[in-house]
Amino acid sequence: MKGGTIFGVGLGPGNPELMSVKADRLVRGAAHIAYFRKAGRKGQSRQIVEGMLAANVTEFAMEYPVTTEIPLSDPRYNEVLSEFYESCTAHLRALAETGEDVIVLCEGDPFFYGSFMHLYTRLQGNTQVEVIPAITGMSAAYTTTGQPITWGDDIMSVLMATLPEDALTEAMQAADAIIVMKIGKNIDKLRRALKAAGKFEAAWIVEYASMPNQKMRLLSDTGSEPVPYFSIVVVHGNGRRP
Ligand SMILES: C[S@@+](CC[C@H](N)C(=O)[O-])C[C@H]1O[C@@H](n2cnc3c(N)ncnc32)[C@H](O)[C@@H]1O
Repeated sequence: MKGGTIFGVGLGPGNPELMSVKADRLVRGAAHIAYFRKAGRKGQSRQIVEGMLAANVTEFAMEYPVTTEIPLSDPRYNEVLSEFYESCTAHLRALAETGEDVIVLCEGDPFFYGSFMHLYTRLQGNTQVEVIPAITGMSAAYTTTGQPITWGDDIMSVLMATLPEDALTEAMQAADAIIVMKIGKNIDKLRRALKAAGKFEAAWIVEYASMPNQKMRLLSDTGSEPVPYFSIVVVHGNGRRP
């Protein structure tokens, strides 16, 4: 394949010191960067690389047309997002066809529940794409609690709080260690599922893990205040130990 390469670069969970050497090199040497963000926001991945970019870098901000405005179950949600990813892909591909490399900034690990995957599957086959793995948000979150997450043969489940309540409860009952992501407006449902599974008292919530505004508490010590999008609930495994 001719042309430039599109790099999906995992930046880690937020603290730039947790970035890989390769990610650091690619970001600092970038002539073109692209990143997702919610309209009106700076973008979490863009914020991570603040102060690392070359003075003449070009930036392509890919603003989500919807986030929570249309329910996930509405067929329009998929349609609108699919069109959005198609147009982002076309822009990046056109840039790569001129011979330029493009660095797509990805918070955490690109292949772990990341938006970059929607570009990757559309680019594959006709554009050179390379993915740089990274430390995930959940890794930073459970490390922040100061307790190991899995021991011996513990089973760990990674759950999205967007799942239906009964599916969450069932998966929690079957797991030793639990990670819950994409919490936001789903916090009350998540609290009910943790209680039904008998795990509520053991649950920690970590907001903005490894970022300057990081906050960690037992979930049972929190009130009814809203939870930011960058929050992770952690229940530690307690498995076999010598
Ligand atoms: C679309 S997923 C992206 C996951 C990311 N690719 C990763 O490797 O962690 C977004 C969710 O990840 C979680 N998340 C990622 N990084 C986080 C961090 N540093 N602190 C808290 N939550 C984080 C939040 O639950 C958020 O809703």
